[in-house]
Amino acid sequence: MSVTVFVPRDAAALAVGADKVAAAIAREAEARGEDVRIVRNGSRGMLWLEVLVEVRTEKGRMAYGPVRAADVASLFDAGFLTGADHPLGHGLTKEIPFLKGQTRLTFARCGVTDPLSLEDYRHYQGLKGLEKAIALSPAEIVAQVTQSGLRGRGGAGFPTGIKWKTVADAKADQKYIVCNADEGDSGTFADRMIMEGDPFVLIEGMAIAGIAVGATKGYVYTRSEYPHAIAVMQEAIEIARRDGILGASVLGSPYAFDMEVRVGAGAYVCGEETSLLNSLEGKRGVVRAKPPLPALQGLFGKPTVVNNVMSLASIPVILDRGPEFYRDFGVGRSHGTIPIQLAGNLKHGGLYETAFGLPLGQLVNEIGGGTISGRPVKAVQVGGPLGAYFPPSLFDTIFDYEAFTAAGGLIGHAGVVVFDDSVDMLKQARFAMEFCAVESCGKCTPCRIGSTRGVEVVDRIARGIEPEKNKVLLEDLCNTMKFGSLCALGGFTPYPVMSAMTHFPEDFAPTPLVEAAE
Ligand SMILES: Cc1cc2nc3c(=O)[nH]c(=O)nc-3n(C[C@H](O)[C@H](O)[C@H](O)COP(=O)(O)O)c2cc1C
Ligand code: SF4
Repeated sequence: MSVTVFVPRDAAALAVGADKVAAAIAREAEARGEDVRIVRNGSRGMLWLEVLVEVRTEKGRMAYGPVRAADVASLFDAGFLTGADHPLGHGLTKEIPFLKGQTRLTFARCGVTDPLSLEDYRHYQGLKGLEKAIALSPAEIVAQVTQSGLRGRGGAGFPTGIKWKTVADAKADQKYIVCNADEGDSGTFADRMIMEGDPFVLIEGMAIAGIAVGATKGYVYTRSEYPHAIAVMQEAIEIARRDGILGASVLGSPYAFDMEVRVGAGAYVCGEETSLLNSLEGKRGVVRAKPPLPALQGLFGKPTVVNNVMSLASIPVILDRGPEFYRDFGVGRSHGTIPIQLAGNLKHGGLYETAFGLPLGQLVNEIGGGTISGRPVKAVQVGGPLGAYFPPSLFDTIFDYEAFTAAGGLIGHAGVVVFDDSVDMLKQARFAMEFCAVESCGKCTPCRIGSTRGVEVVDRIARGIEPEKNKVLLEDLCNTMKFGSLCALGGFTPYPVMSAMTHFPEDFAPTPLVEAAE
């Protein structure tokens, strides 16, 4: 009987040689007369272990990593096909602490299955949510999503059920589901991982959304930097169409739903929903003023649900297991699980899905294992380039929308980027302003002009030119951007800037004038 060996096809694994590892395993197996079946799975999200090779044994799946092509012969020598020990061995995959500690609802199948096998998908509970949705009325589906407490995972944390109800109640000849897969936040990769590792869950979530609000067409808007995700999504859509999951009659029901992938050039602002809609329509990615809400006048002026990949990929499990099941995870008004992306200077970077409520410090020091440089953590930026920097003194802040807001930050798309004590926070503040200046769509003055002025003011502080006066000016400028910008790009850039200045004043301390020193 053949032995099944799993080698991820996720971009993070490919980047460190997964194709070469798979080819080496096939070659070595043939040379040794071993009957091996290689499955290209998604990633388990333990990125420091990629390429993570798994072998299916009687005891369960055994993990080996990080594997390079040069290690393959020694794996065979050690007898890895029977799960034998090897210096790269980690025992049973499911017992690896990083994975064992997680609650995987959205990522339940990611890394487990062959992403393009519908048989695998069905075997692991796939399509159960859609089947149950079809048996309900559209209003009941919306009610279940509302009851689940799911809030948008793209950044703003808006209740998904309420958004869906607005679109469902709108009268129109055509409505759309737009999946925001732009994923521009620094240190984030959850959307990419699910598209590459479990694309059918997104298709299923979008089909449920379509049925719930009366939309027959969906678009996945992603960026050209995600070629693997694009290829997997497109193939999965073809397979779903052939299998009757998409098309004129979804799973034989009276509902029609079809979808396609659209690729943007990768401007950060095109992740903002109205800018995204412009880009989808073939226009420049400039932010639209709200109102009208996209829910009422979105794509091509029609009522449109715009949801993040994570929000839509969480829908099938909610419909399958019921809203209470999902709602019972988490704390306060943050229900369910959140796929946290641990990145930056960390020993154990990767995807960690857990119920809301873990303290930030536990994520960084215990789960992430502290810095890979071995130096003390100085700052953690949560929520992408518009998120605040947290010093270790705020590490007891729990991962929960309200707790982060109260601490002067935001969860955003749940990206956590760690910096050690070699980081200069003034430079980070300058970078935030510069990023805003580069990515600004140019529609409103506080962002377009303010960000450029912001870079200049930070530079003056760095050079010791009237630092106290310029710090007051920077704060004033941040307030103008915060309250005067049309969208969150200009409106939230003050978060990293002000948190850097507030929590790390030593990096903004007056230094002698460069001229004076010369
Ligand atoms: C500058 C900017 C960039 C954004 N980038 C993204 C993104 O890459 N992905 C995303 O889902 N939402 C992004 N958002 C948030 C979207 O505007 C919108 O709130 C989200 O897609 C709604 O989906 P959700 O309710 O499921 O979170 C961004 C917002 C701003 C202001
Ligand atoms: S805040 Fe910036 S990105 Fe947003 S609308 Fe204004 S100029 Fe455009």
